[in-house]
Amino acid sequence: MTSTKTRIAGFDFDNCLMNAAGVACMTIAELEAVKDSAAGTFVTKTATLDFRAGNPEPRYQDVPLGSINSMGLPNQGLDYYLDYLLELQEREPSRTFFLSLVGMSPEETHTILKKVEASDFQGITELNLSCPNVPGKPQIAYDFETTERILKEVFAYFTKPLGIKLPPYFDIVHFDQAAAVFNQFPLAFVNCVNSIGNGLYIEDESVVIRPKNGFGGIGGQYIKPTALANVHAFYQRLNPEIQIIGTGGVLTGRDAFEHILCGASMVQVGTTLHKEGVAAFERITAELKAIMEEKGYESLEDFRGKLQYIEE
Ligand code: DHB
Repeated sequence: MTSTKTRIAGFDFDNCLMNAAGVACMTIAELEAVKDSAAGTFVTKTATLDFRAGNPEPRYQDVPLGSINSMGLPNQGLDYYLDYLLELQEREPSRTFFLSLVGMSPEETHTILKKVEASDFQGITELNLSCPNVPGKPQIAYDFETTERILKEVFAYFTKPLGIKLPPYFDIVHFDQAAAVFNQFPLAFVNCVNSIGNGLYIEDESVVIRPKNGFGGIGGQYIKPTALANVHAFYQRLNPEIQIIGTGGVLTGRDAFEHILCGASMVQVGTTLHKEGVAAFERITAELKAIMEEKGYESLEDFRGKLQYIEE
């Protein structure tokens, strides 16, 4: 029997596919739809301490080879997602879900994480170090000193399973430096990658989103090679206890297969989920299983991380 089940932070999931934070996860109705689909679990929209309206619309645009967005962290505020997750873990005690969060400042991040620590939340927390869309706020994970300081402070009090969402890196030295920081901490996972930040998409003579004069995070087909490189670079460099979640450019079962081959233990779907809806999970799962069956693989462990190189 071919299975796409997986395990993250000691929790079991029936399927290795889930949404990427930002897509289909702003409201309880959207989260319930992902939960009740073929996806193995869901992650919530990155929560700040308080409700945020986000940037002015239009702020997300699907384009032929992907998407561009500058949402600006619209979300319902931490309590909305945390209260829902607490209710859900009573209703569905056998399943595990992900809470994504980040503060508008390091202080706010600590306030939020201390609330999660003090709560009865039993799921997995994803700290988003890679939001590219808030004017005046650079992506935390491109500043290794700040990242190291925040993680040191967090792990002084946070004891629940915690992973981080990363932006793409583009230089081998940066992979080395980032991995040296992450390897100091008991992270459950790193999630590679968030959108490629601050691209520009033009139709006729105009940008297609309003915020930041059209600059926005790029997702979809454009970013798969960058995503795979980041998944594999961290798979090669991180302590084996730190798992990898692969995100970026997953349109088909073949794309998910490649993420797993590069080392991913879970695969997230963003732009494709936005374009196709939750039916994408069933389709991509069937395509992934067909590839596994053709190759004689019964489980993800049979090929995870087993990317082949061309010998010297
Ligand atoms: C937003 C975009 C991101 O890529 C992210 O990680 C967090 C927030 C946004 O614009 O809402």
